[in-house]
This record gives sequence, C-alpha cells and structure tokens, in this order.
Amino acid sequence: MKSLRAVLVIFIIVYSKLSPSRSVVSRAPPPAAPAPRSTVSVEQPASASTHELQQRLHELRAARAQYGAVSVPRVELSDGARMPVLALGTANLPPELVTAVVSAAIELGYRAVDTAPVYGNEREVGRALRDKIADGTVTRSELFIISKLWSTSHRRDLVEPACRRSLEALGLDYVDLYLIHNPMSFKEGPNPIPKIANVLQYSEHDYLEAWFGIEGLVKKGLVRSAGLSNFNSVQVERVVEKGRIKPVINQVECHPYLSQLRLEEFCAARRVRLSCFGVLGSKGTPGDYTSGLAPAIDDPLVTVLAAGLGVTPAQLLISYQLRLGRTVVVKSSRASHLSQAAAATVAAPLDSATVAALSALNRNKRIFTFKGMGDTHKNYPFRIPF
Ligand SMILES: NC(=O)c1ccc[n+]([C@@H]2O[C@H](COP(=O)([O-])OP(=O)(O)OC[C@H]3O[C@@H](n4cnc5c(N)ncnc54)[C@H](OP(=O)(O)O)[C@@H]3O)[C@@H](O)[C@H]2O)c1
Repeated sequence: MKSLRAVLVIFIIVYSKLSPSRSVVSRAPPPAAPAPRSTVSVEQPASASTHELQQRLHELRAARAQYGAVSVPRVELSDGARMPVLALGTANLPPELVTAVVSAAIELGYRAVDTAPVYGNEREVGRALRDKIADGTVTRSELFIISKLWSTSHRRDLVEPACRRSLEALGLDYVDLYLIHNPMSFKEGPNPIPKIANVLQYSEHDYLEAWFGIEGLVKKGLVRSAGLSNFNSVQVERVVEKGRIKPVINQVECHPYLSQLRLEEFCAARRVRLSCFGVLGSKGTPGDYTSGLAPAIDDPLVTVLAAGLGVTPAQLLISYQLRLGRTVVVKSSRASHLSQAAAATVAAPLDSATVAALSALNRNKRIFTFKGMGDTHKNYPFRIPF
C-alpha cells in the first residue's frame, strides 16, 4: 500500500511534464448535412460487428442477474422536482441495441433517460420504457425522462408541435425535463441542419421565444420541469431575468479538462444546477462532431488515481462530478459499464484532495465545439470564458 502511494506521488509530480493528452488535434470540417427526414440523427454511431452486437445483447439481457440493481440517489431541483443523479445517455447508441440498453439500465436501477429528437432513436427508447412499465420493473412516476427542443423549432409556435412529436415517439404524455438543446436558432423546417451550398442557415427567432414556448408546455402539463443546455452565463442570466418560469438545469459538457467551476458557481447562485455530459470524455463520438481533445478517461492521472482508490476510471470521473453537486448523463452500450456507473452513484464520496487533483487538470478545452453546427451564430455560447 505504501509503495503504491509512493508511486502515486511520484507520478503526480512528473505528470504535468509527461502527459500525452495535453495536445488538441485539429480536424477537418464536418461533412455536408444529412438528407432531410422528419426524425433524424445528426450523429451516426460507429458500427459494431454482428457477433459483437449479439454478445452485447446477450450481456444486456443478463445484466440484472449478473450485477444486481442499485437505488440511484436523487437531488431536489429548484422547482421541487427530484432528479436522479445519473441519467442514461442515448446519443450514438448502436441502433440495434437502443431498446436493450435502456431496458438493461432500468433493470440495473437507472430511473433517468436523456433523449433528444436529433438522436434519432426516441421510438426505440420509448419501446423500452413501455416494456419496463408493463412488466412491473418501474412505474411512470419513478422514471425521469429528459428530452430537448432542437434548434429548428425555437420559433414560439413550433415549440409545442416539436414537444408533441417527441412525446408521441416516446409514447409518453409528459416529459419530466425539457431542455433547449442549444442557444443557436436554425432555419425552421424538417432538416435539422439546414444548409444551402454547405452554409448553415440561421433563424432570426431567439432562444427566448423557445423559452416562452416551453413555459406554455409546463402550464399544459406536457413538461414538468424546464431547463437549458449549452448555455453560457450571460444566456442563463437572460432566461432567468426574462422568464416567468426559471430554468432548473443547464446541461453542459463537464470533465476534468473542462471543470466548469465558474459556470457552476454562476448557475448555483441562480438556483440552476449543472447536469454534465461528456463526463468520461465522449469516446466513440464521431470525430466530425468533436474537437479532437483526448478523452479524460485516458488521462494518466485519472488512471492512477482510480487504481489507487480501487475504482475504474469511469467511476472516478462520475464520482468527481457528483462530489461537485452536479448530476451526470453517461452513455454506455455495455452491461458492465452501465453497472459501473450505477455503482458509482452509491459509492463513498471522493475526498477533497482527489477532487482538487482532478480539477487541476482543467484547461478550459471542450470536445463539443459545434464546429460547422452554429459556431458562427450570434448566440454561439463559447466565445466568452464561461
Ligand atoms: N446536450 C448536449 O448537447 C449533449 C451533447 C453530448 C452528449 N449529450 C448527452 O450525454 C450523453 C453522454 O455523452 P457522451 O456519449 O458524449 O459522453 P460519455 O458518456 O463521456 O462517453 C461515452 C463513451 O464512454 C464509454 N464508456 C461508458 N462507460 C464506460 C466505462 N465504465 N468504462 C469505459 N468506457 C465507458 C462508452 O462506451 P461503451 O458504449 O463501450 O460503454 C462511450 O463510448 C449522450 O448520450 C447524450 O445523451 C448531450
């Protein structure tokens, strides 16, 4: 044990000189927009072999028997809603596995699922929700379903139809949390990334219009809680000031390379809680949508701290965000990984020295920069420090 600690200390001292994950690789611009469809995925998952898919399906179906279930803790939001600290992410899941992954997650104790129309799989997610309600694993009121309003529906009269489309695809009559997916407004229409001559077309309608539309959905009972995603401090403040209903969540990218401590402090003062995506570093997200920043899960310090604590790197990164008082959205298509994340929510909290060591990795670098997806829009959120 003593020798492990000594190795750890030496490692931390030399880490800053040796870490290979400090460089940011630049990438080619994203490809042309996908063809217009009514339900689309702007993010195509990497393909897995048939044999691998069969193996994962088998493991997902046996997940509960193999790993057991945990009761994921909840936190109270400023409107009184109780949100599970862990939600299952559903972007980029292999399409053949979506229903099995969501079902397995619910059997392992997940109660929150993060969805969006642009993930292109709301129907498969909805099928799993209905199956798990029908077989008695869970009730609707125990579930906490999150969906998001895409950028082509910010115009006020388009908000309710967009929400109703998601509800219909999910097979639900309300969502627990509805977020404005990001603050940039795109030209209205069926194409989620409307381009002419490869140039993204913007809309003059503002995210405040979208917010007022969502307030109407809360009044109608289609949405229980309302929130934001990818909003910077100025944009959060504007919604807090102008809205009659206050946002309860800002879902943003968070990991040790993007600690978000300043945004968190700003939001907390306005009773807006941070919910984190990309917590593990978004490995597997197609390169066209990412900056090329190395995933935090592969950072040598993360590896060594996790080993020292007897947890996996993924569990360390999840525990880090939870210890900061945030909720997390984590995606996995494997039973063992789903189970690891659930277990991290009931593990002992990290001590403050470990939290400080991870926060010291911050370099204010993000994976999701929306390159070619609104980075020239006047409301692009990442031009200011936080
Ligand atoms: N609001 C937004 O704009 C926004 C943007 C991005 C993402 N999101 C949401 O956040 C979710 C998660 O984001 P993300 O997928 O970018 O990032 P992530 O959760 O940091 O990373 C997911 C990757 O980590 C791997 N992984 C999961 N558990 C693991 C474990 N225990 N050990 C090792 N690797 C593990 C997964 O692979 P396996 O499948 O092999 O486990 C997957 O490749 C999305 O699905 C989506 O719901 C929201």
